[in-house]
Amino acid sequence: MLIGIPTESKAGETRVAATPETVGRLMRLGHQVVVQEGAGQRASFPDEQYAGAGATLDPGPAVWAADVVAKVDAPTAEEVGRLRAGAILATQLSPGQSPELLQALADRAVTALAMDAVPRISRAQSLDVLSSMTNIGGYRAVIEAAYEYGSVFTGQVTAAGKVPPAGVFVIGAGVAGLAAIGTASSLGAVVRAFDIRRAAGEQVESMGGQFVWIASEGESEGADGYAREMRGDLHRRAMEVYARECPEADIVITTALIPGRPAPRIVTAETVARMRSGSVVVDMAARNGGNCELTQPGKVVISHNGVKIVGYTDLPARLPTQASQLYGTNIVNLLALLTPAKDGQIVLDLDDEVVRGLTVTHEREVLWPPPPVSVSALPSVPAPTADPPVGTPPPAAVRLDARRGYFAMAMAAVLFTLVATVSPAAFLGHFTVFVLAVIVGFYVISNVTHALHTPLLAETNAISGIILVGALLQVGSEDPLVRSLALGATVVASINVFGGFAVTGRMLKMFRRQGDA
Ligand code: NAI
Repeated sequence: MLIGIPTESKAGETRVAATPETVGRLMRLGHQVVVQEGAGQRASFPDEQYAGAGATLDPGPAVWAADVVAKVDAPTAEEVGRLRAGAILATQLSPGQSPELLQALADRAVTALAMDAVPRISRAQSLDVLSSMTNIGGYRAVIEAAYEYGSVFTGQVTAAGKVPPAGVFVIGAGVAGLAAIGTASSLGAVVRAFDIRRAAGEQVESMGGQFVWIASEGESEGADGYAREMRGDLHRRAMEVYARECPEADIVITTALIPGRPAPRIVTAETVARMRSGSVVVDMAARNGGNCELTQPGKVVISHNGVKIVGYTDLPARLPTQASQLYGTNIVNLLALLTPAKDGQIVLDLDDEVVRGLTVTHEREVLWPPPPVSVSALPSVPAPTADPPVGTPPPAAVRLDARRGYFAMAMAAVLFTLVATVSPAAFLGHFTVFVLAVIVGFYVISNVTHALHTPLLAETNAISGIILVGALLQVGSEDPLVRSLALGATVVASINVFGGFAVTGRMLKMFRRQGDA
């Protein structure tokens, strides 16, 4: 298939839907790519780099006539008219707010894939542009705040005097909020964060922030893990938190969002009036109506008491190179899902919940909204069970399991006695240690939580290292049995040690920048 990458036409848009690197990856899926001349210019990707990666450059017509057109922003009416009937369009569409655009795409027989409607389930994370762009937006929100704030973030003790660290208060600890917390704390600020979901607390702390929380468990979180709108007493208590914390902070970053609703108004004009002159509010929800009463979308306004309220709605586009790289990778991951055989042939499987979720028009029909996808970010809570009445016998399956357990223990005891009677005393000591090690090891390892599997891997590597040394010492033994056992132990322990190094190497590679040694 031919994939077209046009120049974005929206004013102020700096991003592009493919970079020279992602062009290469699209071609490895069996596709060909045509890029509009100058499409990557504002994101620092010159035409020559696209040509070097194997793309064809075109002034425009061939791009819009391609089988698949990948964009960043929704197309204009004129651009819809340039798409060919039957083409696939992959771009952000805000499908919930654009019924007319969807109808125009359906009338044109375009299959439209809304990159901003990817279901938020783990399997779809690699194509989720909302997450990748919001993450960048959270980072940029801190950079904008630092620019507007007239002081340093980190506390310093200098010959000229002591500078306290900046206090940052983040409201909403979703994707954007967590990115902002991590960025602000790495700049040296003291970060406090509030979210109505209790589950966010651990994440806030892992990013270096202090969690502020009020609700009792379950009150403010739906079964899908997303926040629920607060009402009554809970809402009043939350408003008290905002009114107390904002004037204490130098910088407030608001990211509060309830999916499908306008942004909640949580920072009132009165709260802003109590903030210090020179403080900054960055309202990331400016496009959805704003979390702060004084926000004006796209602008920086200064309140009568000197607080700057930043309402930029294009934060990811202010980091165009990185944002394009991430967006382009989301597009590659979408195309990889749609090209299962890597042969350049697209298969649109509407039975796949991810594909169905983002397909908003197909075969002249509008398919929005999609059927709900069952997501649960909450840990599963076991159903409460009533205590059985006293004297009730255990179920048959439990009785059978218990009997098997007793039988296995009896067999193990008989085997142990047999081994103990026929083997020399020295062997018996070693054998007892071995059996105990197996039992303790089994219980320790099976009770280690998933989060600690990496340190566990390191530990087993260390043990394998000891086994390897022991086996190498025995490999020259006269006894052929000892020699072959030592050889076997050397091979098995080496697999664990070298396999461990290979896995660690792959994991570290994910954190290295391109070009790093
Ligand atoms: P998200 O859904 O991942 O996180 C929102 C968080 O707000 C959730 O953790 C939720 O529990 C919390 N929340 C909801 N109501 C709250 C309240 N009253 N008080 C405290 N916390 C509350 O959303 P995400 O992806 O982090 O996006 C956040 C906002 O940033 C959205 O409005 C999004 O449109 C905006 N955004 C703005 C950009 C810009 O250029 N200005 C760029 C990217 C995103």
